[in-house]
Amino acid sequence: MTLALSLEEIRGATPGVNHVLHFNNAGSALPPQTVVTTMTDHLQREATIGGYEAAAEATERLDAVYSSLADLLGTQPEHVAVIENATRAWDMAVYGYPFVEGDRVLTGRSEYVSNVIALLQLKERHGIEVVLIEDDDHGQIDVAQLEVELAKGATMVAITHAPTNGGLINPAEIVGSLCQTYDAFYVLDACQSAGQVPLDVARIGCDVLSGTGRKYLRGPRGTGFLYAGERALERIEPPFLDLHAAEWTSESSYKIRPDARRFENWETNYAGKLGLGAAVDYAISLGIDESSERVRILGQSLRDALAGTRRVAVHDKGLLRGGIVTFTVDGVSAEDAHAQLSAQRINTSTSPASHARLDLPHRGLPTLLRASVHYYNDEKEIDRFIAAVDQLR
Ligand SMILES: Cc1ncc(COP(=O)(O)O)c(C=O)c1O
Repeated sequence: MTLALSLEEIRGATPGVNHVLHFNNAGSALPPQTVVTTMTDHLQREATIGGYEAAAEATERLDAVYSSLADLLGTQPEHVAVIENATRAWDMAVYGYPFVEGDRVLTGRSEYVSNVIALLQLKERHGIEVVLIEDDDHGQIDVAQLEVELAKGATMVAITHAPTNGGLINPAEIVGSLCQTYDAFYVLDACQSAGQVPLDVARIGCDVLSGTGRKYLRGPRGTGFLYAGERALERIEPPFLDLHAAEWTSESSYKIRPDARRFENWETNYAGKLGLGAAVDYAISLGIDESSERVRILGQSLRDALAGTRRVAVHDKGLLRGGIVTFTVDGVSAEDAHAQLSAQRINTSTSPASHARLDLPHRGLPTLLRASVHYYNDEKEIDRFIAAVDQLR
């Protein structure tokens, strides 16, 4: 499988690679120039002709962002909302779900920190029961236990496709087919998987999927999106409404709009929205299958090289693994390692144990150092990274 552009062309269109060794793609990836230009052009139009006027002028291109996201996810534009980040997208669906006391929500050890906090609040608010599904021997969600719990009756399954703190890619499609068999509502956090692995909501079988712009899609910060399938639109009222999400039909009535844009709000970052569309178009034109394969291979190269480096222990779990690699260096805390690398213009991140309480402490692990590769990274960068890790003090 080959990408539509050569690595040289891809790096040539990524100005950031000339300044930093960027292994923080799971934080926020370096955008391609087309994303930057799309945004700055729009900001320039806002400054020149006025914000509302610039938006009116860009109406068609703004609409096209929904078609691009729909193509990325294998759905129709009316099932897509553009929201400021993945967390708020997820929240709009889950906080809006009509839970009743005793509803069971099944989740996994790799669920994202903010989602777990939200579920705990919903437990206090509505008396839902949050049921933890264990990992299997590979470290992915145990689908056998999931089936046992689904058979007892469950309202919702909420899982994270690719966690923030490791290489795992959860078996989202198997979970989806189980949710269909047992008629459970399926919410998939695809924040780290969007742009990293191909996503097709019909094949996955999810009702809701949330994602972000800035990570593997290489879009702008402050952009995210929500897929809301037919059942989601039937069942979920957004937790808040405004004049964009609903129409004020008489002094004492309103009507919620029928499509997924009911989860949006009126004022938004138009430059960001256009930048997100440009990022999605770029990802699609490059070939998602192909870029995904390259991320997987580079992730595995980095993992193997780290595993062969003295004092390093790699902690990724899962049968299928992607571009996020988490590890510890004996005698150096993740925070110190991050700072030392940063001083050499090598970008990494840390995965605090307190952000993965169902996973890292459970495995006896402290805060981890996270290096996350993208398809635009290369083997030379991996070599330089390994040499720097070897020198950590
Ligand atoms: C798995 C996962 N879900 C959700 C989020 C939250 O995304 P956002 O910051 O866009 O709200 C993150 C962010 O790191 C994440 O890794």
